[in-house]
Amino acid sequence: MAGRVAARAHTNIALIKYWGKRDEALYLPTSTSLSLTLSSLYTDTRVSFDDDAFEDVLLLDGQIQDAASTAKVTRVVNLFRERYGVGSAAPRVRVESHNHVPTAAGLASSSSGFAALATALRALFEERYPDAPRMSDTELSTFARRGSGSATRSIFGGFVEWAYGTGSEDSVAVPVDDAQWDVAMVLVALSTQKKKISSTYGMKHTADTSAFYPLWREVSERDLDDVRAGIRERDIDRVGAAMEANCMKFHATMFAANPPFTYLTSRSLAVIEYIQELRAHEGLSVYYTMDAGPNVKVLCRRSEQQRVHELLEERFPDVTLFDAVAGPAPRTLTEKEWEELYG
Ligand code: DP6
Repeated sequence: MAGRVAARAHTNIALIKYWGKRDEALYLPTSTSLSLTLSSLYTDTRVSFDDDAFEDVLLLDGQIQDAASTAKVTRVVNLFRERYGVGSAAPRVRVESHNHVPTAAGLASSSSGFAALATALRALFEERYPDAPRMSDTELSTFARRGSGSATRSIFGGFVEWAYGTGSEDSVAVPVDDAQWDVAMVLVALSTQKKKISSTYGMKHTADTSAFYPLWREVSERDLDDVRAGIRERDIDRVGAAMEANCMKFHATMFAANPPFTYLTSRSLAVIEYIQELRAHEGLSVYYTMDAGPNVKVLCRRSEQQRVHELLEERFPDVTLFDAVAGPAPRTLTEKEWEELYG
């Protein structure tokens, strides 16, 4: 038995943000969120059982990771040990991850990271413990969720919702639309430095102290209805307008925290202004959103993506741009694929 499996999962960018947990242990969100899975940014992860080891081991891009990062992985592996009915008797796991996303810079590496981990672990445990009940993708999304909330949505491709749910079993990812229409994104990477305030901490501080937070769930649900309608109608302008509105309310919750903080920088604002200019004067369907970092993600038409890219490149020559279209659900990688990529 090989006892070794690899998987690839893509990042997603939230159009309607997840910002706060109603249950911190179970990673249950305070509101439903909606995202687009991206084609060009992803994480590859290989997991293997190590029958002789005493601890799980995590390597990221070839580097052994510290105890805190490894503990997050172990927490997820333990859920699989429990689910497959082997408890602490299951052997330790070695996890090797390669990020094709700048790590922790607001380009959503934790979403692809934990989705790839969960996908690979499901295959590994199913191979070793074939008598346990099979795990559906929907159930898998609840396991990815326990690593990082946004990872829930990376279990499917295209536009995906992460439902508020009534509890742990139904706070799951739901595919909404494959996004195989005239929609794309250009990511404007203003900084690929690790962020100073983690999203986990930022959302907790906001939920605990922000004067605007009590409004968050209700206003967010209204934006969500608009985005859903826009997707149904394949109306990028409707989707984009609601996405921007939700993004600004999301950042407003942080301006109203105590003490206040923001992930936005003057450069983020310069990109926003330029997007508004392109919309008003070039007639392009372009819309912005930003997460827990300064980088701006631009939603645009696939048919206008190249032009949007060129204009952004011309105006901001020192930034890195990533083009993406709708990405797929995670998949396992063959041994051969892994060897060719990582030796
Ligand atoms: C701003 O999923 O990174 O990107 O669940 O604590 O790991 P944890 O947080 P994380 O938060 C992502 C927040 C966001 C919005 C979003 O992706 O919905």
